[in-house]
Amino acid sequence: MKQKMKILVLHGPNLNLLGIREKEIYGPLRLKEIDQKIKKFSKMEGIEVSIRQTNSEGEMVNFIQRAFQKLDGLLINPAAYTHTSIALRDAILGINIPTVEVHLSNIYAREGFRHLSYVAGVSVGQVVGFGVNSYLLGLQALINHLKRK
Ligand code: DQA
Repeated sequence: MKQKMKILVLHGPNLNLLGIREKEIYGPLRLKEIDQKIKKFSKMEGIEVSIRQTNSEGEMVNFIQRAFQKLDGLLINPAAYTHTSIALRDAILGINIPTVEVHLSNIYAREGFRHLSYVAGVSVGQVVGFGVNSYLLGLQALINHLKRK
């Protein structure tokens, strides 16, 4: 039997506060509810998904490194580390895993410091501004990309 496609969904810092934090920007859903939607979508698509959240940059790097030769793709919302972390970029480059970057908010319509993403240049693509649908659209795009490979 053909092996199921395996994807890691990685949420960065402060995303554990969704539903509490700046709801006018990030919406009312809690992370748990977003994860439920991701799981439901993954089931429908017949893929295996693991979901992790951490506030620590080093732990994000560790999660990415652990995916080496085990997982097919990475869907990542690096949150604030998007705009600061060369370490995350290097980890993605290091294990050479197809990556899609997502953001709930449209980072390009916000403060200037959010316009730079260190992850975008090592990603297949980026989905921003659609709330929870950024994750689902990003996941769909990643699956399509992996199927074409
Ligand atoms: C975010 C956008 C980032 O700029 C911010 O630091 C976040 C959330 C988003 O999903 O819109 O924490 O990644």
